[in-house]
Amino acid sequence: MKHLLKLMDWTSGEILETLDLADRLKAENKAGIAHPLLKGKTLAMLFSKSSTRTRVSFEVGMYQLGGHALFISNKESQVGRGEPVQDTARVLSRYVDGIMIRTYAQQEVEDLAKYGSVPVINGLTDYAHPCQVLADLQTIREFKGKLKGLKLCFIGDGINMANSLIVGGLKTGMTVSLACPDNHRPDPEILKWAESTGRFTLTNDPKTAAKDADVVITDVWVSMGQEAEKLQREKDFAGYLVDEALMAVAKPDCMVQHCLPAHRGEEITEEAFEAHAKEIFEEAENRLHAQKAVLVRLLG
Ligand code: CP
Ligand code: NVA
Repeated sequence: MKHLLKLMDWTSGEILETLDLADRLKAENKAGIAHPLLKGKTLAMLFSKSSTRTRVSFEVGMYQLGGHALFISNKESQVGRGEPVQDTARVLSRYVDGIMIRTYAQQEVEDLAKYGSVPVINGLTDYAHPCQVLADLQTIREFKGKLKGLKLCFIGDGINMANSLIVGGLKTGMTVSLACPDNHRPDPEILKWAESTGRFTLTNDPKTAAKDADVVITDVWVSMGQEAEKLQREKDFAGYLVDEALMAVAKPDCMVQHCLPAHRGEEITEEAFEAHAKEIFEEAENRLHAQKAVLVRLLG
């Protein structure tokens, strides 16, 4: 594999091998063993949306691997003034060894890969959030000891997180159930593929989706770029939340994942969040380890 544009492009084997490497890098990191596998390499990080975790984990990750990361905001670069992605891709490819991008349209990420000549990593688009889902899979496997055969349930908006969780969950042998309002469904092509696996169910009833789940995952009701729809979305997603009553229908040892930032009182209650904080913050930490594995595999 040359890029990480979306998980659909990776095979199950590629995903699982990356998780294995992420576990190894995490263990070495905890043991204080340096692993300068990307010594002298540089990563450009293009951001057209806000970020805490993605920016910091990629920057620290490159540093820990012996390389260097450059933060490039669209506002302070020519990207924000409309320089075409085809040109940005060809220019950056002459300076850096890889590009991580967070933006709105998936097409921009695909174009960056098409016109550039270095590996491109999707750090979130409206369509996908593959790096987050690799970290989620690493965390679930860490807590449960396996992925195959587990039931993953997602409650909420059918955009980036939902799309990537469906693909990542199914490709690693999990059963996936998703509850969302009818007008906020995941990408139709992903749904079609998911249904063909025979291990996917879609409903608009959160409790039906969460029944006997091993892991329940949710995401914000209002994603970056959707701020103008806030009031309508609060109405649409009322009831699509993770609370004690929902967790009561899942397996007794069911874990919770949240990509963060969380909006307590919207998609998750304070009680449910704090009861599962250990798993949620391990998930946030695993962004670092999972992305280092991606960087080593693509830039190494
Ligand atoms: N989960 C996630 O991608 O966090 P940031 O928006 O802070 O990068
Ligand atoms: N769905 C959220 C995920 C944030 C990490 C968003 O796109 O804002």
